[in-house]
Amino acid sequence: MKIISFGSLNVDHVYQMPRFVQPGETLSAAALSLHAGGKGLNQSVAASRAGAEVIHGGAVGPDGDSLLEMLRSSGACADHVLRLDAPTGHAVIQVNPQGQNAIIVYGGANHGLTKEYIYGMLSLAQPGDLVLLQNETNAVADIIRLSAEKGLCVVFNPSPLPANPDALPLHQVGILMVNEIEGACLAGLGEDAPSEEVLKALREKYPGCTVVLTLGSRGVMCAKDGQVYRHGIFQVDAVDTTAAGDTFCGYFLAGCCRGLPIPQCLKMACAASAIAVSRPGAAPSIPDLAEVDNFLANQKEI
Ligand code: RIB
Repeated sequence: MKIISFGSLNVDHVYQMPRFVQPGETLSAAALSLHAGGKGLNQSVAASRAGAEVIHGGAVGPDGDSLLEMLRSSGACADHVLRLDAPTGHAVIQVNPQGQNAIIVYGGANHGLTKEYIYGMLSLAQPGDLVLLQNETNAVADIIRLSAEKGLCVVFNPSPLPANPDALPLHQVGILMVNEIEGACLAGLGEDAPSEEVLKALREKYPGCTVVLTLGSRGVMCAKDGQVYRHGIFQVDAVDTTAAGDTFCGYFLAGCCRGLPIPQCLKMACAASAIAVSRPGAAPSIPDLAEVDNFLANQKEI
């Protein structure tokens, strides 16, 4: 089983800030660093470093070499990434002293996917493969529909939240990976709705879909085949939370590809994202499998 991963490739411009900029304010950054990022790239890198076979689909501009190199050095196939005559996507990321972030993304080449390209990528899939996507490229509805029509399991992480999520063919999604805000919005509930209610509403709205609901510092819940699983977070000193969710996603799916039981997939994913949070940057912060195994070997059971 492999992962066909359609997703954004961004150059992240990361600014260390004393706090987030307020409306109308100008604030000096303490430091600037550039990293490989993009939700799609981060998730592909995480799944590859976790041992899954990943073929990445997406697009960069003439300035995107470092992103392809990041995919390749992590073990993902970047041979099918399009080269377009458009600027590579980028993100402007503020990181505050607590390690929290505020992100602006500019799509650029990420919005250049065509139906023909999607058909070509899907021709690489075998029965049983997963198709992973987020909401930082164009053609999201086409990718979901065409993948489902081929009988492939679609994994959708609706981040950033689409303006009108109900316009997407979400009934064709096999695994939905959402945070609390995304989950509540899709469920038609308020942001403060209890997580149990959000999960219940999503299961009723998308019957048969596996729902993974990440809860920040309260861990994660997963509903699959009538069962609900939970896992707590591993405590670390947060340096930069960027790509924590992407790391979780890639590791969880790599566990599924390896046939691990859900509790084990959740444990590996929680450990990997804790490590990612403890160091700066998006893709560069994502650990490999040996590091995650080592981390877990040194933890008390939670
Ligand atoms: O999820 C983190 C990612 O969001 C960053 O790497 C940035 O590029 C944006 O896509």
